[in-house]
Amino acid sequence: MCGIIGITSTPNYSPEGVAKLVVRALLRLEYRGYDSAGVAGIVNGEIVVRKARGKIEDVSRRLGFDKIRSYCMIGHTRWATHGVPSDRNAHPHTDCRKWFAVVHNGILENHAELRRRLERKGHVFRSDTDTEVLPHLVEDYYVVLGNVMSAFEKALGLIRGSYAFAMISVHEPDKIFFAKNKNPLVVGIGKGFNTVASDIAAIIELTRRIVVLRDGWYGYVSPHDIVIYDERGEPIDWKKYVITVEWSVEDASKSGYPHYMLKEIMEQPVALQNTLAGIRRDKAVEKAINILLNAEKIYITAAGTSYHAGLYYASLTSILSGTLVHPFIASEYELYVKTINEGDAVIAVSQSGETMDTLNAVREAKKQGAKIIAVSNVVESSIPRESDTTIYTRAGPEIGVAATKTFTSQTLALYWLSIHYALARGSINQSEAKELLREAEKAPWLIRRAIEMSKPLAEKLAAEISSAGSMYVLSRGIGVPVAMEGALKIKEIGYIHAEAYPAGESKHGPIALIEKGFPVIFIVPNDPRLVYLLMGNIEEMKSRGALTIGVLSENTCRECKLDIRIETPYADKLLVPFTHTPFIQLLSYYIAINKGYDPDKPRNLAKTVTVE
Ligand code: F6R
Repeated sequence: MCGIIGITSTPNYSPEGVAKLVVRALLRLEYRGYDSAGVAGIVNGEIVVRKARGKIEDVSRRLGFDKIRSYCMIGHTRWATHGVPSDRNAHPHTDCRKWFAVVHNGILENHAELRRRLERKGHVFRSDTDTEVLPHLVEDYYVVLGNVMSAFEKALGLIRGSYAFAMISVHEPDKIFFAKNKNPLVVGIGKGFNTVASDIAAIIELTRRIVVLRDGWYGYVSPHDIVIYDERGEPIDWKKYVITVEWSVEDASKSGYPHYMLKEIMEQPVALQNTLAGIRRDKAVEKAINILLNAEKIYITAAGTSYHAGLYYASLTSILSGTLVHPFIASEYELYVKTINEGDAVIAVSQSGETMDTLNAVREAKKQGAKIIAVSNVVESSIPRESDTTIYTRAGPEIGVAATKTFTSQTLALYWLSIHYALARGSINQSEAKELLREAEKAPWLIRRAIEMSKPLAEKLAAEISSAGSMYVLSRGIGVPVAMEGALKIKEIGYIHAEAYPAGESKHGPIALIEKGFPVIFIVPNDPRLVYLLMGNIEEMKSRGALTIGVLSENTCRECKLDIRIETPYADKLLVPFTHTPFIQLLSYYIAINKGYDPDKPRNLAKTVTVE
């Protein structure tokens, strides 16, 4: 949940040093955490550390990160876990003699015990973080062994928990040592330089050739060398693991938009187009169908927005195949995992492929003998690697903390899967499948139109309802997951309490809260029966004074008692994620803007939750 970068180069590659590159990478990593930032570099054989609480741009300007003349540097953006956000807790952390500087993502479980042991030996700690035990441990071993790699290995052997580390040392001043366990870390391969980073997006302007490290791997990079060991300490022929990422620099920058979130909302037509093109040519859907057909039970698991995509899949599969799919929130896996049997299928949805809750659910389901189908946006990430097959969305990097284009890309991939499954089990015939797939092909166009139609209205409505303290987002049937996604976006980006539930539940309790002006947004799927039922729910809210806002297909439900109509392109009800989601994404974006908040950096949140 924090961001790590390390760059080591020759003077030829980067005559002024690497500081400017490190700062640029940190800015690309800011979405990973943004309560403090810091860098460390080797300058004239010594370690220089600059770090403070605050946003990268401010801290870097104030402390002159880019003025450090170093060819070997590490940097960090922090999302606090152990120790409050403060200057002293910001990374990098050093040992007593300042021989080593370390940045870390993850949580060291046995840090308290190690710290007590080190303090008894005379080590003086200067932060409240779990991370600081590592440089002191390495220092301790270095005194005895006189070799950085051996000392690093020994220290890693004592640590329990999750980590991605990058470390520099005065003893080997052109090397960055690294280790990975349960937190993402990649090595970026250059000419005259090499890098390590927690995210591909951080180094995309430097290189597209990367090795995605696996749990237990560690090693070092220098400007000309890369050495990687596996979890048993055996050297790895890393050249076999090099992949070339397709993302471009443009994908990972704002490209003239004021925020990543807006850029990513606007990019959805292309993200859907690329996702479709990718699914058509890869064999993952076929493999997934085989797993699904052989399964007695099908589960779908995920967290947050990805869980909403999972709920959409479950509804769709019930409609198209009459198959019951069991959705469960990944962090609640303990309640479900005992019901999973050998050969059952578990679909794990995760844009990052690294969410710890989802990874845990996958691992436990595998222990029960389940087959795992991953749906992810990040190639070679942990969840795909541990799954039997992966359907990749191709939304490009998502930097805004709130998931937007990855949600609609996931729903499109799952729509595709659900149709093929229905066809394979004979629930629909060839011509019905063809018709549905033709609908799927319309998704990029539909979402483009939906964005055009809803953007001005979302901006206008945001100004009217920004001061609301609470609201409901309601729907029925296939629209409920979209309503749930809408409520999540309004909460996390607009800071308004928003609750979503199937509209029929109003009369069983929630309607008690309705008073004059209480905003209620209705996601109305384009289905006559759902329109009819929702019309009744709109009426019951309206008659109690609610401000009723309907998101619905153009020219439908003219007689609905709506105060505000948000029309979306006319499309099949099953395509509701592509027609109705953009409005709610844009509404939450503009609520944040109205309130003066940064939509890319919602408070208390960070992208990719790699802790339980
Ligand atoms: C909300 C959001 C989160 C993520 C969740 C799962 O906008 O982004 O709710 O959807 O943390 O993340 P992934 O999909 O990476 O597993």
